[in-house]
Formats: sequence, C-alpha cells, structure tokens
Amino acid sequence: TPRVFSGIQPSGGLTLGNYLGALKRFVEKQDEGGETIYCLVDMHAITVWQDPAKLRHQTREMAAGFIAAGIDPARSILFNQSQVTAHVELAWIFNCVARMGWMGRMTQWKDKAGKNSENASLGLFAYPALMAADILAYKATHVPVGEDQKQHLELTRDIAAKFNNDYGVTFFPMTEPVIEGAATRVMSLRDGSKKMSKSDPSDQSRINLTDDADSIAAKIRKAKTDPEPLPDTLDGLKDRPEARNLVNIYAALAGMSAADVVAEYAGAQFGSFKPKLAELAVAKLSPITTEMNRLMQDPAEIDRILGRGAAQAEAIARPILNEVYDIVGMIRSR
Ligand code: TYM
Repeated sequence: TPRVFSGIQPSGGLTLGNYLGALKRFVEKQDEGGETIYCLVDMHAITVWQDPAKLRHQTREMAAGFIAAGIDPARSILFNQSQVTAHVELAWIFNCVARMGWMGRMTQWKDKAGKNSENASLGLFAYPALMAADILAYKATHVPVGEDQKQHLELTRDIAAKFNNDYGVTFFPMTEPVIEGAATRVMSLRDGSKKMSKSDPSDQSRINLTDDADSIAAKIRKAKTDPEPLPDTLDGLKDRPEARNLVNIYAALAGMSAADVVAEYAGAQFGSFKPKLAELAVAKLSPITTEMNRLMQDPAEIDRILGRGAAQAEAIARPILNEVYDIVGMIRSR
C-alpha cells in the first residue's frame, strides 16, 4: 500500500516555494486519503548553525503553518524528527552503506559547503543519508518534494538498493519521488535564475508565510520582470525566467495550468497582471497566516500535537528498525 512521507527543515520560516512546491501538495496527498507522514526535520536543520531559541520557535511555527495550511493531525502523522530516534539510528547504518563519492556529488552539498568544505560540518556532508533514513524508516513509497530534492531522492534509491544487495534481502522499497504541479521550482522574485529560498539574504526575493498582505503585494509589485507583455502561448515564456516564474506562481495558487494562465492573460502587461497575482496570493495566503498566528498563541498545544505524532511515527518505525538490526547482525537481547 502507498505510504507518503516528506519533510521540511525548520531552519527559517515557510516560503512560498515551500508552500507551493511541498506543503500544498502534502495537503492534497492527505486529502486523497492515503497514509501520510510529515516531519519537521530539526536534525537536518542543525547541519548548519541554528540558534536554539529560534530553532524551537521556528519548529513550532512551522507546525502551526502545516496545520493552518490544512494538515489535519487526526489524518496525517505530524511530528518533529528528533523525537523519533529511529531516524538517526538508521542514518548511522546508512552512513556505513553510502559511499563518500556519492555524497560528494550532491549539488546541495556543493552549493552549501562552497569552496570552504574543510570547514563544513560532517553532518552537512552526511545529510542525504539521514534523509534516506527519514524515508526508509517508514518504508515510504512516495515522497512529494520540489525539484531541488530530486537528486537526494535518487540517492535514497541507491542507498536502498545497496543495502538490499549487500545483505541479500528485498527489504527497502524503491521510493518514488512525486514532483508535480505548476510550481515545482519557484524562483527568486529578484533573480529568475535562483530558486526562492529561506536562506537568501534578500527578504525581497521571497514571500514568507508570515508576511502580511501589504508586504506580499509590495514584493510582487517590485518583482523583477521584462518589459514585454504576456505572450499568447507558453512557448513565448521560454527565455523569460522571471515572467515564467510569476505565471507559474499564479497557476499554482489558482489551481490552473500555466498554459491556461497564459491563455487568460495573453497580451496583458505585467503592470496589470501583477496586481491580479498579488490579489490572488493575498486571498490564498492570508487565511493561512491568520490561522498560523492564532495557533501560535498556544504553543503547549502544538507541542502536544507533535508529541502524539511522534508516538504514532515511532510505532511504525521501531519494528522496521528492529528488523534492520537483525538483518545487519546486531544482538538485541533486551
Ligand atoms: P527544504 O526544507 O529545503 O524544503 C522543503 C520542501 O520545499 C521544497 N522547496 C521548493 N519547492 C519549489 N520551489 C522552491 N523554491 C522550493 N524551495 C523549497 C523542497 O523541494 C522540499 O520539498 N532535504 C529536504 C528536507 C528533507 C526531506 C526528507 C524531504 C529531509 N528529509 C525526507 C523529503 C523526505 C530539504 O532540505 O527541504
């Protein structure tokens, strides 16, 4: 049976990229009625320095954002990673299965470590093994993500295949990445060649789920575009990354295809398209922001939800991990 797993790092607030590329689709998967497990990956977040008080706050705020966006803790398992130790236990085993060369080829590692990799944390290098463990601790079959996680999911399959092969078992499934929709790669509002990211130094480059209506509208108004109007067909957006990005964002927010958006606005100037986009963004995002802020009034309740989710997650992962220990040859006598 299909089992959906995905995670988001609480290393900052939720961005529009996280929302359209991931969270909105997590809600869709839940509403389709499958088994859905969603994790705030705090152990991944600390691969780069996190201020402890901020990390705690951001983890709660992200949980509130998930619930506000439609994740229902009665239908999905929602928890923070560090409360279920099976993730790091399996990650250690995968550290011994994965090869240094595989890790060194990860573009996220290369981007984040940069030229100064001597000074990057060991955790940042091993990051994809922990991500594989997140997924495979549940034998998850489907993982909804944005496009930037594709390479990590391929590595997850490589790790699963090598484990199965090394130990002569057919134990771990070959997980399917689910990269769908109009906004699998939301770009920066300032630079159409960079993805929208919570780590971009410019706050103008992204829309945050904590932004109020005025700042959402202002950021869209100031978003970089070219002087041409919208084309008649998608083809006309080919070498216009900023224009293409705004069309994709509109499409994803409206639940339309990019082709339909272009058909509807053919010939329109961005001066008139941007206010429509801003209106749509505010209409879709403001209710989430309001509900998120309301939920944040009761952090103890958020912690209780995460605790219950962690217990449910543990109940699935622990028996799988026990089998892994048996396969690997570890004595378990208590
Ligand atoms: P993270 O925290 O960077 O991002 C969370 C999710 O949001 C998607 N995303 C985007 N989608 C479209 N456009 C963007 N600009 C954009 N920015 C981010 C990401 O693709 C992701 O789906 N390694 C993961 C977290 C992780 C994970 C996992 C995911 C840890 N363990 C297990 C799935 C399964 C990460 O850093 O995502």
